[in-house]
Amino acid sequence: MKESNPGSGLQNGLVVERNPEIDDNAIVLDRHDSISGYINTYGDKLAEWYEDHTAIVVPHWPLPIDLAFLQSITMPPAYKKIGSANGIDGPLFKRTKDNKYVGINPLLNLNLEMMETIYLRDQIQLAFRQIRLDIARLFGRYRLVEANMTFRCVPTRDEGMHLDAFAGGGVSPMHRMKFFINIDSQNREWQTSYSLPRALEVYRDLLGDIPAGINRNDLNHALTAKLGNILPRHRISYPALSCVIANGETIFHEVTFGNRMIAGEFFTPVETMHAPDKFIGRQVAETMQRFGIGQTETAPV
Ligand SMILES: [Fe+2]
Repeated sequence: MKESNPGSGLQNGLVVERNPEIDDNAIVLDRHDSISGYINTYGDKLAEWYEDHTAIVVPHWPLPIDLAFLQSITMPPAYKKIGSANGIDGPLFKRTKDNKYVGINPLLNLNLEMMETIYLRDQIQLAFRQIRLDIARLFGRYRLVEANMTFRCVPTRDEGMHLDAFAGGGVSPMHRMKFFINIDSQNREWQTSYSLPRALEVYRDLLGDIPAGINRNDLNHALTAKLGNILPRHRISYPALSCVIANGETIFHEVTFGNRMIAGEFFTPVETMHAPDKFIGRQVAETMQRFGIGQTETAPV
């Protein structure tokens, strides 16, 4: 592993070490103090890079949040996937017809003082509102639909190199957008490797027993099992309020260290992509066919 290339390495504690064995699939943006700065500088390039399975590193994402307070919060492992889909940025209580107040927000189960719970909910609400506005502007061509935003004050260590996999076959008919903002006092440590299509190409000789008709969920599991321990790695180490925008479904990755982050998952219709032909459902089917791996599936449109 070599030191990062000039111009893409050290910025305010941000480190990217590129491994020359692997495609250079990380881009570090120049730092801006406003989201408008990134939009004015990069525009539609962001969508183009993302669709090319690039890890886009945003050196500073300005968010109006109380980092010192948030860095005092730790949540149990079960909260890793709890997010806006579960109402953590919404009301704490509802009032019933018989005038009782019933807790409806998972934050109430953290057993914090009530004022702390209210303040935490307000902080999450502030962050999520700002991020929703920002991500829609950063990827202006997309019509983003929010699947979930999680506020993970949950430590992660050495999770193993993998491709994300999703229940139900794993083939979404929409283009998936994911991003991960570090909010901890310590850098979040990622390792990344080939994209899914490139891994199919590079390691095709090891993939002869991938069964015909395998669905994307099982394919991602199979590739993780076969390749997770042998893939060469890049390293990305990023500080508080910096972000990696990358599709964990299509880029091999591992979090080796991290304590607190905000993760977003959104979808957009394939036709809004910069290059709809790069939709991963299509791309994987074509790549598997080209290299004689398994059997192609019908790509959803
Ligand atoms: Fe992952």
